[in-house]
Amino acid sequence: MKKLIVANWKMNPKAAKEALALLEEVKKEIRGIKEAEIIICPPAIWLQNLKPSAAIKMGAQNCHWEVSGAFTGEISAAMAAGAGAEYVILGHSERRQFMGETDEIVNLKIKAALKAKLKIILCVGEKIGEEMSAVVESQMSASLAGLSVNQMKEVVIAYEPVWAIGTGKACSPDDALSVGLFIRKTLTKLYSRFLAEKTPVLYGGSVNGQNCEAYISQSRLDGLLVGGASLDAKEFGQIAKKIS
Ligand code: PGA
Repeated sequence: MKKLIVANWKMNPKAAKEALALLEEVKKEIRGIKEAEIIICPPAIWLQNLKPSAAIKMGAQNCHWEVSGAFTGEISAAMAAGAGAEYVILGHSERRQFMGETDEIVNLKIKAALKAKLKIILCVGEKIGEEMSAVVESQMSASLAGLSVNQMKEVVIAYEPVWAIGTGKACSPDDALSVGLFIRKTLTKLYSRFLAEKTPVLYGGSVNGQNCEAYISQSRLDGLLVGGASLDAKEFGQIAKKIS
């Protein structure tokens, strides 16, 4: 299976011109890489301008659960797909924290996104002081409630401990290995061992050019979700080269 490298640009960069320039730089840096699937998730307003290519797929950072209607400021899954997104990040901790997203909302969004033929990158992870297993298991079972085995083929799970996001304090590769196994155990419980083995599991949280490799070789994960470091084309390129 190709490794997945997801760039979460969050609310960056500040202008469309910079976003276009960053994408061009990233394209240069990743030239020749065949063993990784690279997914760039820019702010939704630029999806339409930032064209996917053979080497780069695009993703949205969020979508609404309804198809249309009176939801000021929101975009639907079909709108994101129509603008070029193939993936959507859902359940990111920043949306849970700042926008009050619950697992129930994430579940509705996943179902809407699947209907619009988007692939899902579902983020799960505990806050500091919380028990990883309790949080990850309940987030997974509630967010994935009602999804068929077939629908699960379109789902990627990203473990992003909240304490590691943007802090420079990445999870240790050994702990990421244990969490990866725990996520697969939970998928086995919810679905089957077969599905658990097939579902890509990513790590995210202060990933950089130095620490990236260990999550693949040591933690045996299927890829990375990169925030801050994805805004630096050289560093992102380095990550992509190292893990592919
Ligand atoms: P970070 O963010 O790499 O800046 O820690 C990761 C994320 O929030 O997806």
